[in-house]
Amino acid sequence: MINVTKTFLPPQEAYQAVLQRAWETGWMTNRGVLVQELEATLISYLGVKNIIATTNGTLPIQIAIKGLGLSGEIITTPFSYVATTSSIVWEGCIPVFVDIHDKYLTIDETKIEAAITPNTSAILATHVFGNPCHVEAIEAIAIKHNLKVIYDAAHSFGVEYKGKSMFNYGDVSTCSFHATKLFHTGEGGAMFANNKAVHDKLFYHHNFGHDGPEAFQGLGINAKMSEPQAAMGLAVFPYFETILKERKKVADAYKDAFAKSDLQVLKIREHTQWNSCYYPVIFKNEAQLLKVKQALETENIHPRRYFYPSLDTLPYVKAEACVISRKIAASVLCLPLYVGLAAKDVERIINIIKTNLC
Ligand SMILES: Cc1ncc(COP(=O)(O)O)c(C=O)c1O
Repeated sequence: MINVTKTFLPPQEAYQAVLQRAWETGWMTNRGVLVQELEATLISYLGVKNIIATTNGTLPIQIAIKGLGLSGEIITTPFSYVATTSSIVWEGCIPVFVDIHDKYLTIDETKIEAAITPNTSAILATHVFGNPCHVEAIEAIAIKHNLKVIYDAAHSFGVEYKGKSMFNYGDVSTCSFHATKLFHTGEGGAMFANNKAVHDKLFYHHNFGHDGPEAFQGLGINAKMSEPQAAMGLAVFPYFETILKERKKVADAYKDAFAKSDLQVLKIREHTQWNSCYYPVIFKNEAQLLKVKQALETENIHPRRYFYPSLDTLPYVKAEACVISRKIAASVLCLPLYVGLAAKDVERIINIIKTNLC
């Protein structure tokens, strides 16, 4: 069976060797040595000021909303994983959807200002499929209207824009280290804030508000990463450059194969060093997508409809009719892409798709 992705697993001995250190300390959580070592490793690799490792990639979004003191309306993208929208609603705010760019698939920055009202407190945008949003335009709008910016950078580990990690942008950036992501800790995630006061707030929030064992700095929740999670991260990290290279080979094969076809592929924003985290292809319409999906599934190949449905159609939000997002969501399919996907299988996938396009 070929799935859309396959978790990269380091050699089991490598994981056990790191895990052994948790046995030596007797600590399984509460920011033990492995979490601290992982954070230091990632700060240095990513060139970021700060990081807070978390238990998944959803809680950091919720904590960022809480920590930045947001309320009322938050402008957001309808084309992302559901966690982007659900976090806004979970925190008692109202998502206001702005349609996406039809090539980059990120929020259309030229449409943001028209959606701002006196109740708008922030912009929460996703660097979808690792493709950066127009961060300069969004920053300018945020400054002009006194709004906060959160980037859901769940897909952006290893992506650089203008020579900097994506996690340097916005008031807060968040990431997911879920097992399906390029760099992973099984379940896991992180949040990043350049401003020290914001960082400290997020830090307290992620650990019940604890300021030492007997004092509290405000309201908190439990979003701590555990030692076994950090051990997985430390065991995966030495392979990260190989992961990037191997995935690029597959992504390049798809790119070459579809260059002269009718399929639309993702336009990567200029000045971006991309991480080949997903390979979305956009069909002429949903009927064509369903035909190709069925043909692949008959061969036991399982692409995924990332991201479907468009989030402006969720049952718990006000429908905004984001026409481009709905059209893309109905016709996009992410193709299998992972380390170890054989070249002959990539070729087979390409052939099945091409045969079923007409
Ligand atoms: C865009 C986006 N945001 C948030 C998340 C949530 O991350 P997690 O599954 O680690 O909670 C995901 C997960 O896939 C995602 O794709």
